[in-house]
Order: sequence, then structure tokens, then C-alpha cells
Amino acid sequence: VETIEGMADGDSLHPLQRVFIEEAALQCGICTPGILIAAKSLLEKNPNPTDTEVRYWLAGNLCRCTGYDKIIKAVQTAAAEMRGA
Ligand code: FES
Repeated sequence: VETIEGMADGDSLHPLQRVFIEEAALQCGICTPGILIAAKSLLEKNPNPTDTEVRYWLAGNLCRCTGYDKIIKAVQTAAAEMRGA
């Protein structure tokens, strides 16, 4: 089982973690780990998802506090970076 604690490589944050900080896509301590782990799983299966695919993939992470726009944008930014785009 992979958890948020295993997502970084030592002191180096995973690109998703770093971009979520840079783009202020962070939510609470319950939502953010779930979203990050789910997004990592998505990008491993589909490195170039559409916004709709990201929204559907993250649909199990129900946050009452956000419209998800910053989260979707951050996932797309990290995905592009991970593709070398
Ligand atoms: Fe976690 Fe909204 S930030 S429920």
C-alpha cells in the first residue's frame, strides 16, 4: 500500500506535491493526501489525461471546500512536466 509518506523521494517532493504547493492547490490534511495519491495513480496509467478524465479520476475525493479548478490545473501542470513537455 502506497501512502502520502512514500510519495516523495527523500527530501525531493514528487512533481505533483511540488506543483500543488507552487500553484496553491492544497486543501485540508484529509483531502490533499487522497488527491495526490489518486492523481499519481492516474498519471501512471494515463500521462496525458484531459481535464474531464482528471475530474472523473478524482471524483472519489469529496471536498466541500473547493471547486477543484486549481487542483485540476495543478495535475495538468505536473503531468506536462512529467512528460517533459
Ligand atoms: Fe478537505 Fe475540503 S479541504 S474537506
